[in-house]
Amino acid sequence: MTAVNLYAQRRARVAAQLGAGGIAIIPTALEHPRNRDSDFLFRHDSYFYYLTGFTEPHASLVITAEGECTLFCQPKDMEREIWDGIRLGPEAAPAALGVQAAHAITTLDTHLPRMLENRSTVWYPFAIHKGLEGRVDGWLHAVRARVRYGALCPEQQRDLCGILDEMRLVKDDHELDIMRRASQISARAHIRAMQRSAAMLRAGQEVREYHLDAELLHEFRQHGSQYPAYGSIVAGGANACVLHYRADKALIQSGDLVLIDAGCELDGYASDITRTFPANGKFSGPQRELYDLVLASQDAAIAATHQGARFVEPHEATVAVLAQGMLDVGLLDKNKVGSAQDVIANRSYFQFYMHRTGHWLGMDVHDCGSYVEPSQVGQFSERKDPLSGELIKDRPSRILQPGMVLTIEPGIYVRPGAGVPEQFWNIGIRIEDDAVVTATGCELITRDVPVKADEIEALMRA
Ligand code: GLY
Ligand code: MN
Ligand code: MN
Repeated sequence: MTAVNLYAQRRARVAAQLGAGGIAIIPTALEHPRNRDSDFLFRHDSYFYYLTGFTEPHASLVITAEGECTLFCQPKDMEREIWDGIRLGPEAAPAALGVQAAHAITTLDTHLPRMLENRSTVWYPFAIHKGLEGRVDGWLHAVRARVRYGALCPEQQRDLCGILDEMRLVKDDHELDIMRRASQISARAHIRAMQRSAAMLRAGQEVREYHLDAELLHEFRQHGSQYPAYGSIVAGGANACVLHYRADKALIQSGDLVLIDAGCELDGYASDITRTFPANGKFSGPQRELYDLVLASQDAAIAATHQGARFVEPHEATVAVLAQGMLDVGLLDKNKVGSAQDVIANRSYFQFYMHRTGHWLGMDVHDCGSYVEPSQVGQFSERKDPLSGELIKDRPSRILQPGMVLTIEPGIYVRPGAGVPEQFWNIGIRIEDDAVVTATGCELITRDVPVKADEIEALMRA
């Protein structure tokens, strides 16, 4: 299938779900100023791109229930194109993108009221685009001004995210192919950073977090990735215990662990890998003990990831292994916290493992898609959280289907504290891989970078 057909097919699937008289509006992202007259690097809106493959700013797509698609995009403008680059332009858009019509984005406010006239329902992504609700309001206001002449004004506004999220949650072959390639690039970047760390320390050079960040970026761009999929985390030593740490300037000491959570974005799709490795290439005893525990918990989560399982099952499998392991290695004292079952029930593990084991992955690193099974959304049970005392409503977790992509990322983060064995202080470990759910289990698409401690040591000696 050509790319044009692929996007046209997705638009047709949206059109078929809008209901009689429906119309949908999907803008791309806004440009964001960084300072004075410099903007942040532009990144298209994921929904818009999913339906068009079009990456220029200042564009909107309109789809009707009858399948008529209209693109609004930047008009051709020789002067602006000299400064900012070639624009596709509305004249070329129908042939290039397979839409039925295209107009200059500058005419959106004149076209939209006419397009909304006599429609029953306006769909657009709620709470995504700042100011869009107000603009829709303005267009509807213009329609209302014409009701005296017999025009009908839409009576309903509906959130388009629900339709698009469900479509995006299950990836097609085209998407999976890009995601596999993005993962391969990211895996190479992790290997490069690991090897560079050991080589620099062996050569007696100073290693700082930004040196390793530079290695990641080099590999991403070298293989055609447009940018990192999110701010890379490169955390030496105790910094690894800060979950949202960013690559900064801290000195990495021989004997430290380094946690790198980084993945490239390739052609609109994210990858998301974490590896934790000894800066000098050799795990210490306590580091290795916790590393092997996190890895065992990841193995359990991977085994729990398959068609028909609930999204929450890999997390539960991780927690079961970590709870027992924290007791075994002495991070938790069974005289104080009881058995592994007690550790799970009371969430005592939370002191050292305070995040979930995964999330959907796709165009967005924390991708869209409901974590609740849609067919069971009305069912819930209530329980009191043992730590916060908050009343929590549990709804049935999503049932995994082939083509869904999720991360599997257990960790252990040990901050110094009373009763915490000192040999583990300031160790932060996370291991993160990306998994495609298949009919028989899951395909780990990020394993070009090894994960076993011995294999990491071997490649860092190379
Ligand atoms: N890199 C963000 C995450 O792992 O969720
Ligand atoms: Mn992740
Ligand atoms: Mn990550």
